[in-house]
Amino acid sequence: MSQSSQSQVVAIEWRQQSLFLLDQRVLPHEHSMIECKTAAETADAIREMVVRGAPAIGISAAYGYALDALAGRDLAEAYKVLAESRPTAVNLFWALERMASLNTSDGQTLLAEARKIHEEDIQANHTMGQFGASLISDGVQVYTHCNTGALATGGHGTALGVIRSAFADGKIQHVYAGETRPWLQGARLTAWELMQDDIPVSLVCDGAAAQLFRAEKPEWVIVGADRITANGDVANKIGTYSLAVNAKHHGMKFMVVAPTTTFDMELASGDLIPIEQRPMQEVTSIQGKQIAPEGCNAINPSFDVTPAELIDAIVTEKGIVRNPTTEAMAELFNRS
Ligand code: MRU
Repeated sequence: MSQSSQSQVVAIEWRQQSLFLLDQRVLPHEHSMIECKTAAETADAIREMVVRGAPAIGISAAYGYALDALAGRDLAEAYKVLAESRPTAVNLFWALERMASLNTSDGQTLLAEARKIHEEDIQANHTMGQFGASLISDGVQVYTHCNTGALATGGHGTALGVIRSAFADGKIQHVYAGETRPWLQGARLTAWELMQDDIPVSLVCDGAAAQLFRAEKPEWVIVGADRITANGDVANKIGTYSLAVNAKHHGMKFMVVAPTTTFDMELASGDLIPIEQRPMQEVTSIQGKQIAPEGCNAINPSFDVTPAELIDAIVTEKGIVRNPTTEAMAELFNRS
């Protein structure tokens, strides 16, 4: 059994002057890399879920911007097309702002910056892994949602990074992964990543969480985030809010793991976060096969907001905020 906390999964790769993205829509049964040569192609890949997960979206957008700079294309247009790809993960806008703030159209300079954003994310994940693992007791079970691993980030992962680090420290006995309808990131991606690393995992239907919490009482629910507002409210994959309510009811602890690139300190609360609404066909069908009656209506919010009061700890690369408040969030964010 591997006790290493180093994931081998590579989802984002710069090669031969192109951006290559592992196609996450077809994992785990097919492994194919999609080549992006322009910002517009990168934006399509983000919108269509070839690459997903807040930090991975930000990193990909930075490379997409560099692609257009290297080809001498209009960078205002590159910014616009990338910014319109998905609305909720703030890492996208953070990365584009960081690229644009260099105020240059030099492709090599912008490529170097994209590589730096990528590298910094990997470092942040390893730091968060250690911080988060320090909160976990020995020999426990944990529950996670969606996919927050190497696939969703530059490498290692946020919530899954904490799980990897805590498992390597011998603390975690078993992981429960919620399947995460409708895209099944838990079933297709998290279960696969954990099995690659020989970390014991059981997959659960999203609707089984409350029963599992009552029967097994995992010590922590550990999730990632797409946007965290100034008061500590957290937007994350749809279903996260229900898990937080259920965790509170069962006396379990709730941990959010995200780099400070996921903080949006300009928004006072989660009520202001734009929530992506995705096509209803993602709910009425599964992998292209119609399940609901033809013509059935559906709603498909991709994210929900968990109020700060349900969160025990927000783990970042700068440290941990326990029982988040506006003051505690600002203190951590302003740390150097
Ligand atoms: O729609 P997705 O798959 O991009 O949603 C991903 C999530 O909600 C993750 O939990 C979040 O981005 C954190 S990833 C480290």
